[in-house]
This record gives sequence, structure tokens and C-alpha cells, in this order.
Amino acid sequence: MKPILDACCGGKMFYFDKQDGRVLFQDIRKIKTTLCDGRTFEVNPDVQADFTSMPYPDASFSMVVFDPPHLIYSRGKKSKFVDMYGTLSDKTAPTGWQKIKYGALYKDWRDMLSKGFSECFRVLQPGGFLIFKWNECDIKVSEVLKLTPQKPVFGHLSGKRSNTHWICFMKDR
Ligand SMILES: C[S@@+](CC[C@H](N)C(=O)[O-])C[C@H]1O[C@@H](n2cnc3c(N)ncnc32)[C@H](O)[C@@H]1O
Repeated sequence: MKPILDACCGGKMFYFDKQDGRVLFQDIRKIKTTLCDGRTFEVNPDVQADFTSMPYPDASFSMVVFDPPHLIYSRGKKSKFVDMYGTLSDKTAPTGWQKIKYGALYKDWRDMLSKGFSECFRVLQPGGFLIFKWNECDIKVSEVLKLTPQKPVFGHLSGKRSNTHWICFMKDR
């Protein structure tokens, strides 16, 4: 088993090496599409699975990376869209390159993210680290941190608008 799990790797944009052999890349989608600027965008995980119910035994990884969708679906307009399950549809859906790249949150986002946290900590070894990334566009990070009983160790704000939080948790030994 690889030591690091990325629970929702998307396009692996923050990796130095998108083929890093230490990381097991997981995402619910597997897609290849063309963005409006002509660039190809691909989500090609090693494992296609749902972070709310992951197919690994307890305590499998020494680090888990969790960068879930942070944009709310209801802001979407009608357009052709590859949805979070990889289906091209004409129904009301999030639009724009950001939503294609990052996925979207739905009405049940609290339930989804709290199950996601719980699964990330389940598959993490005692003393292991969870690296959580959150972009504070639609939902405050304080609201999201209420969805796990685990206590963060430290965090850092980054990004052009200083709204991207990087937060490190450690699972109790
Ligand atoms: C913010 S993006 C991740 C971006 C990624 N960290 C990067 O560097 O490119 C969120 C990803 O979560 C995925 N996702 C959404 N719901 C999921 C779920 N229930 N299980 C696993 N992945 C999910 C989306 O498909 C999307 O690729």
C-alpha cells in the first residue's frame, strides 16, 4: 500500500509530480475534457471511489490529502457540463472552468464533508497527518471545521485573494 492517499485528487494541480509513486490518487470522477481556453483537463485517478465510503482498511496511510469541492452548485446556469460523476448533461449545472476543475457542492454538503472527514481519519494511521485544503469562496472555513471533532494543529492562508486555507491535523496516537 502507498503511504499517502489523496482522497479527491482532481487534476492533481498542486503536485510537483503527477505520477508520484508514493501517492494513491483517488477521485469519484474519471474524465478527459477540453476547457474553454482549449486546454485539456483530465481527472485520471488510480482508484475511482467516493471519499464518503472508501475501499481501504482502517489505518492504511500515514498521510491523507483532502481537497474537496468548495463551490456551491445552486449558483449554476444552464449549460453542457461534465458532472461530478463524469456524465455530460444539459441539465442545470455549475458552469465555468473552475467548476469543471474542482467539482461542486450540493444541498447535502455538510453530510458529505463530515462523512469525508470521518473516512479520512478512519484510513489514517494513529499519529498520521491529514492535510486539508479549503477555498473560502462560498463557505467559511469555520463552518467546515465544525464537521469534524478532530482538532487542527496549524494552518496557513494562501492564494491571490488570501482565501485558500491549508490546515494540518494529526490523528491521535
Ligand atoms: C477541489 S477539486 C481537487 C483539486 C486537486 N486537489 C488538484 O490539485 O487539482 C475536488 C475534487 O473532488 C472530487 N470529488 C467530489 N466529490 C467526491 C467524492 N464524494 N469522492 C471523491 N472525490 C470527490 C471532484 O471530482 C474534484 O475532482
